[in-house]
Amino acid sequence: MITFRPATAADMPGLAALEAAATAHGWSERQYRDSLAAGHAFLLLEIDGQLCGHAVAMAVLDEAELLTIVIAAEKQGQGLGRTLLGRLLEQLRQLGCTRLFLEVRESNRPARALYANSGFSETGLRKHYYPTAAGREHAVLMEIEL
Ligand SMILES: CC(C)(COP(=O)(O)OP(=O)(O)OC[C@H]1O[C@@H](n2cnc3c(N)ncnc32)[C@H](O)[C@@H]1OP(=O)(O)O)[C@@H](O)C(=O)NCCC(=O)NCCS
Repeated sequence: MITFRPATAADMPGLAALEAAATAHGWSERQYRDSLAAGHAFLLLEIDGQLCGHAVAMAVLDEAELLTIVIAAEKQGQGLGRTLLGRLLEQLRQLGCTRLFLEVRESNRPARALYANSGFSETGLRKHYYPTAAGREHAVLMEIEL
């Protein structure tokens, strides 16, 4: 059964490990701890009590920014990312947010497709924003009205 819950400090090593296995560009455990301490909104997706993904957003007044979303590598492609994002959008609406922004690597096709299929629009490009093994790549800016 899929369930959702917020995070505690005890979850941070698990979130960092899940992300390290799913992407080369993930947050460290330290970054997760700092984010939790900063009061960001964490949403964890579990299946039968096992952590399978998480999303983190920063809400400021009526606007929010998606800081990270990740599904465990072995669970990707089964609709969990879409489910988690949908739940996060609902949660942000309930917090009174009216708009959600994000930045995504231009080369990250799965994430860009997830966002586009979830109703996000591309609004701009931050050139040479992200470091890569070979140099730098652009950030695509996206947003959705909640
Ligand atoms: C991006 C991510 C969260 C998507 O999660 P997921 O559970 O695999 O996605 P879903 O199965 O819910 O698929 C949702 C949509 O995403 C797109 N998508 C997912 N995987 C894809 C792939 N490998 N290639 C192209 N599109 C893909 C599809 O459009 C899909 O919609 P559809 O079901 O109508 O075809 C996951 O790939 C991930 O954790 N990636 C590593 C971390 C990351 O890059 N996060 C984003 C940082 S901005």
